[in-house]
Amino acid sequence: MTILQVNKVSQRFGELAAVNDLSFDVEKGEIFGIAGPNGAGKTTLFNVITGFYQGSGDIIFDNVNIRGLRPHQICHRGIVRTFQIPQLFLTLPVVENVKVGAHFGVTGAHDEKESINEAINFVELKGKENVIAANLNLFDKKRTMLAAALATKPKLLLLDEPIGGLSPIEVSQTITLFQKINKELGLTILIIEHLMKVITEIAQRLMIIHNGEKICIGSPQEVTKDKRVIEVYLGG
Ligand SMILES: Nc1ncnc2c1ncn2[C@@H]1O[C@H](COP(=O)(O)OP(=O)(O)O)[C@@H](O)[C@H]1O
Ligand SMILES: [Mg+2]
Repeated sequence: MTILQVNKVSQRFGELAAVNDLSFDVEKGEIFGIAGPNGAGKTTLFNVITGFYQGSGDIIFDNVNIRGLRPHQICHRGIVRTFQIPQLFLTLPVVENVKVGAHFGVTGAHDEKESINEAINFVELKGKENVIAANLNLFDKKRTMLAAALATKPKLLLLDEPIGGLSPIEVSQTITLFQKINKELGLTILIIEHLMKVITEIAQRLMIIHNGEKICIGSPQEVTKDKRVIEVYLGG
């Protein structure tokens, strides 16, 4: 079953087509990876899906065309995203940051306090609820942002290069956490990651984009063997 259908989506900045006529489907329950060189249009694609940019084309989520809706409307429908650089309220404690997510999310559908607790437990930040966000290390900042996202009770989670700047141990803990979110919470995940070693490990299917265009889509094995992917991305 398809949960997200991206159909001929583009985003222009003046002369530049940062995302160019891009189409792909995401299946319910899968971890779908997006990779490509710096400037390929990966973050811009997330910005269009989540309503930060208007874009053009169709984005069908749960049978509704959400393209052009405001970010909060898209969040209410069950899509949430994290950012490459953690976006937090730095003067507020962890719990208040997660509360913003719970408050912002799928309105009326859940008990806020319970969602906040569940999310904090899930990302293993129990005991750090009252730490001011500014005083957290990068790993904890990222997990706070993730907890805030989970507290919205999403169906689809978009992760933009979530492991950048982490140590090897933190990277492997983060990957385990994403797999747990996918399996135990039943969330569909779209993950952007430019390191092929990581993305091929976590994603069930993978799309490579270059200059805003799709150059290949398939299983990690198929994609890493693809001639164009080797030519423009992996180097061959
Ligand atoms: N708000 C913006 N205004 C103008 N150009 C932008 C804007 N956001 C991104 N771009 C450009 O669009 C292209 C794709 O950027 P981005 O989506 O951030 O790439 P990626 O995430 O794949 O590294 C880049 O050339 C970038 O400079
Ligand atoms: Mg980016």
